[in-house]
Amino acid sequence: MPAQTIDGVALSKQIRGEVAQRAAALSALGITPGLAVLLVGDNPASQVYVRNKVKACQEAGLHSVLETYPAEFGEAELLARIAALNADPTIHGILVQLPLPRHIDEQRVIEAIAPAKDVDGFHVASAGALLVGRSGDEAGFRPCTPYGCMKMLESIGCDPRGRHAVVIGRSNIVGKPMALLLLQAHATVTICHSATADLAHHTRQADIVVVAVGRRHTLTADMVKPGAVVIDVGMNRDEAGRLCGDVDFDGVREVAGALTPVPGGVGPMTITMLLANTVEAAERSAR
Ligand code: GUN
Repeated sequence: MPAQTIDGVALSKQIRGEVAQRAAALSALGITPGLAVLLVGDNPASQVYVRNKVKACQEAGLHSVLETYPAEFGEAELLARIAALNADPTIHGILVQLPLPRHIDEQRVIEAIAPAKDVDGFHVASAGALLVGRSGDEAGFRPCTPYGCMKMLESIGCDPRGRHAVVIGRSNIVGKPMALLLLQAHATVTICHSATADLAHHTRQADIVVVAVGRRHTLTADMVKPGAVVIDVGMNRDEAGRLCGDVDFDGVREVAGALTPVPGGVGPMTITMLLANTVEAAERSAR
């Protein structure tokens, strides 16, 4: 029997409905949750992402501002914009779209965002809260993509407790926080990466596999334990120009128990959890 497909569009719709209700409740108190999105340069993929983020805000009843700057925009000017937004009471979340042009120090920019407005969850304060197991309560924010992956597991009743989870990829945005969230949910976690000697040896033991590499066919059917839950964070194009993930969907579907598609899987969930974090930030500001 082919694997269950975990529909990120349907789950997003449900969660965005809940987020919109929370936003409306805050707006009734005179606090409309606000997100500022900053884009530097003309990376076409980033332009699509930020447009989608702003549109999603509008649909959920959040206030949003999009600031776009040319590729030559200076780091000092960007830091000054962030300082102004940190002090702006109508803005509860600040997102600087990555990657930034090479002349700008990404980490310095991220650290300039007030931790209370770090809805991307990339600030060291958020990363530290996640490391000590406090993320999502009063302290810090969960990075949106791994947070969305956890919601997808929850949506099919997959409790990571006692399961063996293998995360492929060790980025600060996905792999590392994903591993920590799974650990916080009591999974036994293995992190694999480009220097892992025998990837299939690890993935074949996994009850849950999260693939966040950025390379097609990183996970094929022969690497998957029957019945495993597979989450595909990849976003690539095949030779025909079609969107595809890191997982060989057609092959793995015959072995896995559940699987996320690309497109229509993790992608929409990332924006959904950004909205959820922004509303959370506004709720905290009202306490
Ligand atoms: N670039 C790719 N993914 C992301 C993300 O989740 N947030 C930001 N700020 N930039 C990104």
